[in-house]
Amino acid sequence: MDQPRPKQIFGAQVNGQGVELLIAPQETLLEVLRDRLELTGSKEGCGEGVCGACTVLVDGQPRRACLTLALEAQGLSVLTVEGLAQGGELSREQRAFIEHGAIQCGYCTPGMLMATRDLLSREPFPDEAAIRRQISGHVCRCTGYAKIVEAVAALGQAAPGEEQP
Ligand code: FES
Ligand code: FES
Repeated sequence: MDQPRPKQIFGAQVNGQGVELLIAPQETLLEVLRDRLELTGSKEGCGEGVCGACTVLVDGQPRRACLTLALEAQGLSVLTVEGLAQGGELSREQRAFIEHGAIQCGYCTPGMLMATRDLLSREPFPDEAAIRRQISGHVCRCTGYAKIVEAVAALGQAAPGEEQP
């Protein structure tokens, strides 16, 4: 029988805070975020990389946290939905989703928000096709996507310098 592999120390910057904990090598980033760090904003929808609900940014890159081993994020910075609001103020993405009615049950919302942050960081003024491409890997069972596209498009229409994340 295989011996369990020894636990290892995992260290990363999560939402700007240094964390260090002992984890099993097979623990996913989603398990560490939700079960160890109690950051339950990132959702487990499918657990198989399909729905996008668990999306976080690792060193600025969107990653499906359910498919990412926590140790793959060793020493890196991880941004989750909990890290978007700053100083008690919702981020511009969060405000836009609320203002445009882009949230119903909210299960897909954390992943959608992280996808939005990623898109706007690369492409500040995305057209509708770019927005739909970006969220195509994110399943929303409630909104029909139109309000989400509208919210992201509104962010892209803000004059340069008018609204910053
Ligand atoms: Fe990770 Fe669905 S829970 S993609
Ligand atoms: Fe319910 Fe998107 S708002 S899944």
